[in-house]
Amino acid sequence: MACEFRAADWQEYKMDFREPHRELEPLEDEVRVVDEALAALVAEGLLPHTAYDGAKLLAHREAVRTQFEIPWTAISPRMQRLLYAINAIRQPRNMIAAGVFCGNTFISNAGAGVGPGACYEAAALIGVEIKPEEAERAERNVRKIDPTGVARVLAADALDVVADFEGPIEVLYLDADGDRGRGKGIYLEILQAAYEKMPDGALVLAHNSVNGGDKLQPYLGWVRHPANMRASVNVIFDPEGLEVSAK
Ligand SMILES: C[S@@+](CC[C@H](N)C(=O)[O-])C[C@H]1O[C@@H](n2cnc3c(N)ncnc32)[C@H](O)[C@@H]1O
Repeated sequence: MACEFRAADWQEYKMDFREPHRELEPLEDEVRVVDEALAALVAEGLLPHTAYDGAKLLAHREAVRTQFEIPWTAISPRMQRLLYAINAIRQPRNMIAAGVFCGNTFISNAGAGVGPGACYEAAALIGVEIKPEEAERAERNVRKIDPTGVARVLAADALDVVADFEGPIEVLYLDADGDRGRGKGIYLEILQAAYEKMPDGALVLAHNSVNGGDKLQPYLGWVRHPANMRASVNVIFDPEGLEVSAK
């Protein structure tokens, strides 16, 4: 049976994709649910601890709210906090995010390494978006809160970027919906292209673990097989979900 963390209210916790900054619950409830999810990741050996700086997350959130152009996003406040916290705890020198659309999903990860929420020094935080006009907007958004260029968005196929990347990939975030009918099936292709570059303890974060549909099932089966990944937990606290797996 798949290992999971499930919040009792995951089906009722619904966001309006066009109003991503609207508060859905009291802040202390959001913090508690995410802390419980982090504790489940620690219990399965995916993270060493649950501690991150909540004030920095709020500074990051405010910068995104005021400076990012976001036509829509499915990243809920719980998911934003979890992605930030996982990166703040794991502190990847190199992180690649595949399929970043307007960049909100990318910066939820990269915001632990750059901008007002930064809590460690990263080397390369790379978002990849295959549609050039979306990649341009995402890059424009990211530049507003990271003048350094450590975080950047490339207009490219994530498969190529991962295959060509030189150096270890400590966190790989998957959100691409593929093309040519591949849909979320492309997650497994991207992970397999990255696998040899991922050191022991590297994490893969797969968005839409709950609502990703049939095409995502081979991916979920693969990361949940102990021959491939050391541990894997499906975090279910909103209708999208995040599968967190460690090599
Ligand atoms: C559904 S969006 C992700 C949105 C994100 N979950 C959010 O809520 O902000 C998926 C993105 O993946 C992009 N994409 C699809 N295939 C890709 C690939 N091979 N490489 C990079 N990006 C890709 C699409 O153009 C699209 O913008």
